[in-house]
Amino acid sequence: MEPGKHTILCVDDELVNLKVLDAVLTPRGYQVIVTQNPKEVQTIVQEKSIDLILLDVMMPELDGYSVCRQIKDNPQTRQIPVVMITVLSSKEDRIKGIDAGADDFVTKPFDQEVVLARVRMLLKMKALNDRLNHGYHNITRLTSFGEEILKGFSAKNFRFFDVISGVVKQVLRQSGDIQDKPLIVIVGTTNRNRWEWYQFESAFNELYSTKLNLQLQDCLSLPATGDSRVLFFNEGEVGGTVLRELVRMLESESLLSVRNGISYLSPELCAFSLNYGRDVTVYDASVLKSLVMQSLFLKSLSNQVLETEDALEHTVRALVRASEANDQDSGNHVIRVGAFSALLAETLGMSAKFVRSIWLQAQMHDVGMMRVPVNILRKEGKLDTQDLIAIRRHPLYGAEIIGPHPRFRMARNIALTHHERWDGSGYPKGLKGEQIPVEGRIVGLADTYDSIRTAKRFKPAISHDEAVETILKGNERTRPDHFDPRILAAFQRAAVRFAKLYARLEEPSGEKR
Ligand SMILES: [Fe+2]
Ligand SMILES: [Fe+2]
Repeated sequence: MEPGKHTILCVDDELVNLKVLDAVLTPRGYQVIVTQNPKEVQTIVQEKSIDLILLDVMMPELDGYSVCRQIKDNPQTRQIPVVMITVLSSKEDRIKGIDAGADDFVTKPFDQEVVLARVRMLLKMKALNDRLNHGYHNITRLTSFGEEILKGFSAKNFRFFDVISGVVKQVLRQSGDIQDKPLIVIVGTTNRNRWEWYQFESAFNELYSTKLNLQLQDCLSLPATGDSRVLFFNEGEVGGTVLRELVRMLESESLLSVRNGISYLSPELCAFSLNYGRDVTVYDASVLKSLVMQSLFLKSLSNQVLETEDALEHTVRALVRASEANDQDSGNHVIRVGAFSALLAETLGMSAKFVRSIWLQAQMHDVGMMRVPVNILRKEGKLDTQDLIAIRRHPLYGAEIIGPHPRFRMARNIALTHHERWDGSGYPKGLKGEQIPVEGRIVGLADTYDSIRTAKRFKPAISHDEAVETILKGNERTRPDHFDPRILAAFQRAAVRFAKLYARLEEPSGEKR
């Protein structure tokens, strides 16, 4: 520990004693603040950053014990070591001092070497104590930040910049904070080799970011893909670090004057936390590193989730295409049924997750058709009873093909129940009302609308208005009692959007929601 960075408050009612202490401490590089008035101590410790107090005991208006107790009772100041300087040396007086919270004693008249040794020892202890507190504070902070982020994590709505801003907020010094944090954080991220740089600062507990018009990556030697490097430097060391160019660039743009800092370098993200209120340590570097790593981990998690979702959609589409191989009438039917089902679910006020799921999983409603004999599917002319029995097995086949995986529970329910009817007249099981899962009821209506509208080998295409009338009023095949009244009402409310969706998805070019 180097002297010169510590401020010592000396409290004594006799000016001559203060002068002696000042003469001992100032030449050793300590900054000395003196007061003869013990009542001022509270104000001084609140306003200044005091590292140690040398406190006289016998003072007329307020004795040293009381002053010490006030300091030690206040959570903001209790970590400041207090050395009592006293002519009293009885056991009782010592006990009284210990009870008041004094950390050490020096007997008057004092030996200056003894005073200096005590000061050095206590400052060292305070520094260790501060670091421990800071460490504890950081661990708590990192844990709750991680928890918060995971709570709100959504791969679909993941915005890397928001997470980075959250990290910076954890790192930056807010007004009123202690000196353990930096005043400025600069972050660079890359997207397809284009770097963007932002400078973050805090004022009045708000975070401000400014986009920098600099290409800082040009003056950095970045590690290879998959690697990262953390460096830190203190005053006077900047010139010797690999960050010299960076600091020169920042300073030449008059952005700031760099005293100390930490840098995290990786091929996709760089972060610099600059100008801490004290020397930075390897410990500060690991705090920055773990925060940045958390955000990079979330970014990679989000990418992986999206990639998996994409692969899943692709697989569903492949299965659907395979199931349509023998069906000449299919066109965009399954895609439209997915879209209509999502529209109905949205109109019914279902959650975004449900809407998204039904959009994808409804597309598998007819996969069971792939087990219906080809000669029936391709039969010209009227189907006989046996043909109809075979076709009516497709819900059971579909459920078997989709299988029991929980991720496809909705698809399985849909395949199995999309031909069930609210009034119990459907197949394969003749389920009634709410015995039919809601997803099956929704897809039942979506499928009916699309089948009515679309031209088949045995029937022409029908207009939107006619299809709506058929569903709402009924004909020889379809009756309003087939449908859940709530879903029927939602269909009526969304009818205009059904017409638009049908027009948009009519051609078998496909479209993603
Ligand atoms: Fe079907
Ligand atoms: Fe269908």
